[in-house]
Amino acid sequence: MFNLILFGPPGSGKGTQSERLIARYGLKHLSTGDLLRSEIAHKTALGLEAKGFMDRGELVPDAVVIGMIRSALDNNPEAKGFLFDGFPRTKAQSEALDALLAQREEAINVVLALEVTEEELVKRLLNRGLTSGRTDDVNEGIIRARIEEYHKKTSAVADHYRQFGKVVEVKGEGTVDDIFEALCAEIEKRKAA
Ligand code: AP5
Ligand code: MG
Repeated sequence: MFNLILFGPPGSGKGTQSERLIARYGLKHLSTGDLLRSEIAHKTALGLEAKGFMDRGELVPDAVVIGMIRSALDNNPEAKGFLFDGFPRTKAQSEALDALLAQREEAINVVLALEVTEEELVKRLLNRGLTSGRTDDVNEGIIRARIEEYHKKTSAVADHYRQFGKVVEVKGEGTVDDIFEALCAEIEKRKAA
């Protein structure tokens, strides 16, 4: 198996690049943001619990998202590998993911971290908010709150995997094609290793 975390702040291109990476490498895409938005659309109890946090740009409690990932791993026993997008987002989620994978005699192979300046992130998300219908894209205050959550809680995920030498920084600005090729080059190196 090849298990990859596509890491980066809100708007750094995780979703955009994930679509291409899963097509090239046949990985199963697990985006906790997409899973949560689907729960909200279906008005489930989990969705109702998550909605308030997401609308304010805050993280949903760890136990909720860890439970979703546990189910997703259980439900995809045939996967060739997983691409985690938007998960893990806290140190506790990183440790839970490592434990869930270890139970399956698996581990994270690499963390690819997209680097984009804050001004570019805000510009991209405000622009997407014109058409996305995402309640967390509609105003700059919420977008800035999401970026602040990232600095306060999510940057710890990179620190966690850095101690195992698993983090590779990739420039997340430029054309979507060029960024995709840079990500693929890093994956090829790790797959060959
Ligand atoms: P989530 O859905 O994960 O959103 P996010 O991390 O805030 O990031 P986005 O999905 O907005 O951006 P992205 O990096 O995927 O970029 P994209 O490719 O779309 O999380 C939403 C919320 O759910 C969280 O705030 C939290 O409440 C909750 N949540 C989710 N997971 C959680 C977890 N694990 N724990 C707790 N809570 C959790 O691109 C953005 C825009 O830029 C697009 O318009 C795109 O077209 C454009 N773009 C992409 N690439 C480029 C490029 N190279 N140049 C120019 N524009 C580009
Ligand atoms: Mg996304």
